[in-house]
Amino acid sequence: MKKTLLVALGLAFASAGALAAPEDALNKAACMACHTKDKKLVGPSFKDIATKYKGQDVNAKLFDKVRKGGSGSFGPIPMSPNPPEKISDADLKEVIAWILKQG
Ligand code: HEC
Repeated sequence: MKKTLLVALGLAFASAGALAAPEDALNKAACMACHTKDKKLVGPSFKDIATKYKGQDVNAKLFDKVRKGGSGSFGPIPMSPNPPEKISDADLKEVIAWILKQG
């Protein structure tokens, strides 16, 4: 019983630690060279992205877009491709879910 509680507490701490992870990954992958949380830079702010897609199931679409890069959603300026060497599948998934919550 006690052991189960400890394991549960451990998991709770582990996921609390993961809260900072998306921002870490965004910095490491240099997404922040073109994006900020709430101001347009080269790319749209995360707030604008979240607002644009509010209530839509776009995680897979945005995952693909960030990997391959491209333009057309927010204007003519293209995003450069972001290969797995820059950001892992797991990190990119987490980062996109986080971005979509910034609206
Ligand atoms: C060289 C600059 C640049 C970098 C680096 C960059 N982006 Fe972008 N990003 C853009 C631009 C420009 C757009 C707008 C593209 C468009 O209008 O379709 C964009 C759009 C997006 C979108 C919305 C896509 C859509 O179709 O609505 C997401 C999500 C995103 N970026 C996430 C990321 C993440 C995550 C990273 C890091 C792995 C990253 N970006 C790195 C410039 C960049």
